[in-house]
Amino acid sequence: MSQEQDQYSNAAEEREAADDVPAHDNIANNIGNVLERRYGRRSVLTGLVGAAAAGSNLGWSKNLLAQSITEQSPNARPSFNFKELKGGVDATHHVAEGHEAKILIRWGDPIFADAPEFDPHNQTFLSQLKQFGYNNDYIGFLPLENAADGQVERGLLCVNHEYTNEEVMFPNMPRQDKRNFAEMTPQLAGVEMVAHGGTILEIERRDGTWTPNIQSVYNRRITAITTGMSFDGPAAGHDRLKTSMEPSGHHVRGTLNNCAGGMTPWGTYLMAEENFHFYFWTDEKNSKTLGDKTPPHGFGGKQGKSFKRYKLGTKARMSWGLFDKRFNLDHEPNEPNRFGWVVEVDPMEPKSRPIKHTALGRFCHEGAECILSKAGHAVIYMGDDTRFEYLYRFVSTGRYVPGDKPGNMKLLSQGTLSTAVFKEDGTLEWRALEYGHGPLNEKNGFSSQGDVLIDARLAAEALGATPMDRPEDVQPNPETGKVYVMLTNNRKRLMTNAANPRRANFAGHIIEFTPDDGDHAAPTARWDILIQGGKPGLPLVGGKWHKDTSADGWFAAPDNAAVDSSGRLWIATDQGAGWRYTGKADGLYALETSGPLRGLSKLFFRVPVGAECCGPQFTPDGETLFLAVQHPGTDGTKYYPGFNRVSTFSDPATRWPDFDPHIPPRPSVLAIRRTGGGKIA
Ligand code: FEO
Ligand code: CA
Ligand code: CA
Ligand code: CA
Repeated sequence: MSQEQDQYSNAAEEREAADDVPAHDNIANNIGNVLERRYGRRSVLTGLVGAAAAGSNLGWSKNLLAQSITEQSPNARPSFNFKELKGGVDATHHVAEGHEAKILIRWGDPIFADAPEFDPHNQTFLSQLKQFGYNNDYIGFLPLENAADGQVERGLLCVNHEYTNEEVMFPNMPRQDKRNFAEMTPQLAGVEMVAHGGTILEIERRDGTWTPNIQSVYNRRITAITTGMSFDGPAAGHDRLKTSMEPSGHHVRGTLNNCAGGMTPWGTYLMAEENFHFYFWTDEKNSKTLGDKTPPHGFGGKQGKSFKRYKLGTKARMSWGLFDKRFNLDHEPNEPNRFGWVVEVDPMEPKSRPIKHTALGRFCHEGAECILSKAGHAVIYMGDDTRFEYLYRFVSTGRYVPGDKPGNMKLLSQGTLSTAVFKEDGTLEWRALEYGHGPLNEKNGFSSQGDVLIDARLAAEALGATPMDRPEDVQPNPETGKVYVMLTNNRKRLMTNAANPRRANFAGHIIEFTPDDGDHAAPTARWDILIQGGKPGLPLVGGKWHKDTSADGWFAAPDNAAVDSSGRLWIATDQGAGWRYTGKADGLYALETSGPLRGLSKLFFRVPVGAECCGPQFTPDGETLFLAVQHPGTDGTKYYPGFNRVSTFSDPATRWPDFDPHIPPRPSVLAIRRTGGGKIA
């Protein structure tokens, strides 16, 4: 077993690590190590960042490291008001004192009144189709009704189900991609397919407690195979979207690997398709040795170049291609071009057809947060979560019209997709991916705007986009107009650039940018680094925090972010198996972004062992926080003291949240409230 395989010893970990594999070798367009040039030119703050980062690359200066982001005034008042939680790792979740975290919905819970009871020993396609899916990630919330006191009483929860962990989901099922799917059956693959996708669920709050309403007409399951969807935008009907089963290139069944997402001002739910390449099979690659990353023969030309950049034609991580030719590239080489998009769903119309908006580009979409520009254009910020991939922004051609939902639902069909270039002088420049402009022409393999969008990564590279340390959620703050980019980590980084200043960046960082003229459609912005993850005060780590950040308060691997009703920033982490280095389970952190305490982080919530913290979402009144606990009991359990082995269905590291000896761990959504009511934190 290689060190890499040993290090990532189960499905969830390896999936996460696979996010990290750079899809292109050519990072020659990297700005290069500009730290020395940058250092000394920027503000004192930036100078410190530069020095700290330069330290990690060029040799450390201890006294610089001892400095904090901001010299704090002794009377500085935090915007958050809670007693910090103790960090650590154990079998269950923990929330800061004075708050209660209640389970709202778990994998397998009924979504419809006629759904069968959850029976993890006998899961079927039909039962799972009527139950809450697996690995809840993004959570959106759409209020339905306000009571007279302004408190939300009913709402629709919109939840993504990113992927499945077969080794803790099914009895007697070892980790499958390591075994060439020897034990998988078409029946169980079918359960997995409908455990993917999304759930729309009406919930209501009575006496302070949120509960699902399984009678609601709005409830809906969206899955990887049963939900008919349509394409729109410039790539709809493109030859490269046509398959033998669906020769028009306008329609597709299902959505894959829905990670984070967003809600629009017109009340729709955006689902981001992330690691879609895990699902595609080739007969050749899947009969060979593990880890063979060379694309199979037969995939030459434009498609071959595209496959390589999107990591297609490598070893599949899911068995589905064994049972359904759609997921077999030898049979349907265009099928993967139909995934990797942002999907728009109208939660108020449970029979409506979700739309894959090709105008927003195709890549490993982490999320899709929406905000309006000064003139009312819809702006979507998006990260491509793979090592050395890029940050994107979409600006709609049309403008938002309050109350015109049908019109607003066309906004994401047409607009300008741009990619970010981070300059060492603190400028962020957006460069448009427009066919026929600059290098996006026939000579470079682009024959239409459809080609540009299908191969957005190749187009952005041609435009000189800045290769980033795995951009995850990109969170605008509507109160301040600032935008926060989660860069989770990139331990493969050798060549740094101004916006990704650490070599072997294990702990990640957060970039803050301010659009020029306060306009999210502006061609430029000013950027800076808000924090660098990792333990403060260690030269080799290079963590950068407000000096009062406690031993519990610093974090690594920022992933999802949310802004609450008071305009405060919250960060959820996804360390994978890396928690064994930090000694902290993943969690939710409250992070000060302005004033003398800027860069001060406090731990508010943590997940059980092996889980990831996803989907923070506040109700508009700021009194409820929804959180998604994904894949409990999986990541890094070989290193969990006293357990020290890989979790299985019958022998998991935790049976959170039921702690029933017959029930495996279950991904679940929590509703967190202040004890006795009032604003969170
Ligand atoms: Fe699905 Fe990038 O996290
Ligand atoms: Ca994520
Ligand atoms: Ca977010
Ligand atoms: Ca992640």
